[in-house]
Amino acid sequence: MFERENEIVAGTFNPGEEELELSLRPQRLSQYIGQNKVKEVLNIFIESAKMRGQPLDHVLLSGPPGLGKTTLANIISNEMGVNMRVTSGPAIERAGDLAAILTNLNENDVLFIDEIHRLHKSVEEVMYPALEDFALDIIIGKGPSARSIRLDLPKFTLIGATTRSGMLASPLRDRFGVMCNLDFYEPEDLKEIVLRSAKILDVEIDEKGAEEIAKRSRGTPRIANRLLKRVRDYAIVKGQGKIDYDTANKALKMLEIDEIGLDKLDRRILNTIIDYYNGGPVGLDTLAASIGEEKGTIEDVYEPYLLQIGYLNRTPRGRVVSELGYKHVNKIKKKEQISILEGQL
Ligand SMILES: Nc1ncnc2c1ncn2[C@@H]1O[C@H](COP(=O)(O)OP(=O)(O)OP(=O)(O)O)[C@@H](O)[C@H]1O
Ligand SMILES: [Mg+2]
Repeated sequence: MFERENEIVAGTFNPGEEELELSLRPQRLSQYIGQNKVKEVLNIFIESAKMRGQPLDHVLLSGPPGLGKTTLANIISNEMGVNMRVTSGPAIERAGDLAAILTNLNENDVLFIDEIHRLHKSVEEVMYPALEDFALDIIIGKGPSARSIRLDLPKFTLIGATTRSGMLASPLRDRFGVMCNLDFYEPEDLKEIVLRSAKILDVEIDEKGAEEIAKRSRGTPRIANRLLKRVRDYAIVKGQGKIDYDTANKALKMLEIDEIGLDKLDRRILNTIIDYYNGGPVGLDTLAASIGEEKGTIEDVYEPYLLQIGYLNRTPRGRVVSELGYKHVNKIKKKEQISILEGQL
């Protein structure tokens, strides 16, 4: 096993970080930077629901970790002026757990289910009538004397979040009236996020410093905030506490974040596929075992960005490093490999 060196990119929280996320989390739609299409859509649905005095349609938020799904769910409930109850797919173990949660909601409340693709099958089935008719069908008794009673529920909004919308069963997916897919952020948006966070954290930073952090944040606000914190620490110890291009650059170099934001594990993924599998294709299981990382981490956290920037391609037979990927780790794709790969595509 390798030591944990990927806490910057990690999809999970580092110790003490949850508090930081809370303080940096925008509370209103107007403070949510970027994702303009998603904001526009949500704004219309929210306004319309408020005008009709009804709960918002069920919303599905999908996208890689750290792009702002939980943040958006919070914002939606704030904008609707309702309470939000938070749980996650794997936490709801039995249909009874779901019934307990649902019957305790108030009219128009939001129920936020994180990792909704990991909902248990038995729970999912109970969910369908709840979403559609705001009712629960409960079976009482066993055998021939069993009977089903229908329990009315308060009208509520389900907000589901998932990093894998493809893994959602289609009957569940079909019950969402609003679907929002979050994309990686543009550097300009990330720069704005960095400047906003710096203000909240009371960190002095100039435009060029913010730009540099933004450029190296893999299109992800959570990573931008993490890097800002690390660069701030560096600036305090090695400089006057002010972040400019120079301190940002030096600090990120020390953290082994390269000029486009890839970290050691990203590079190890590329190098492993190139060195041990001739650039691919290689299956995810094999790759995960060679690197000593969990398959899910590679698939959910690392791969999406490498695919997005075109360094990695997905083929039916596995992952393949593209020529751009070769170039990035200073390696050259051999001619015969190119022709073999082209034959496969
Ligand atoms: N549009 C945004 N504007 C400003 N800050 C943002 C934005 N989106 C996300 N953030 C910041 O990034 C952090 C991470 O976002 P969030 O926790 O909502 O991600 P997530 O998509 O729920 O991730 P996960 O899949 O890991 O649960 C937030 O604490 C917030 O500070
Ligand atoms: Mg979240």
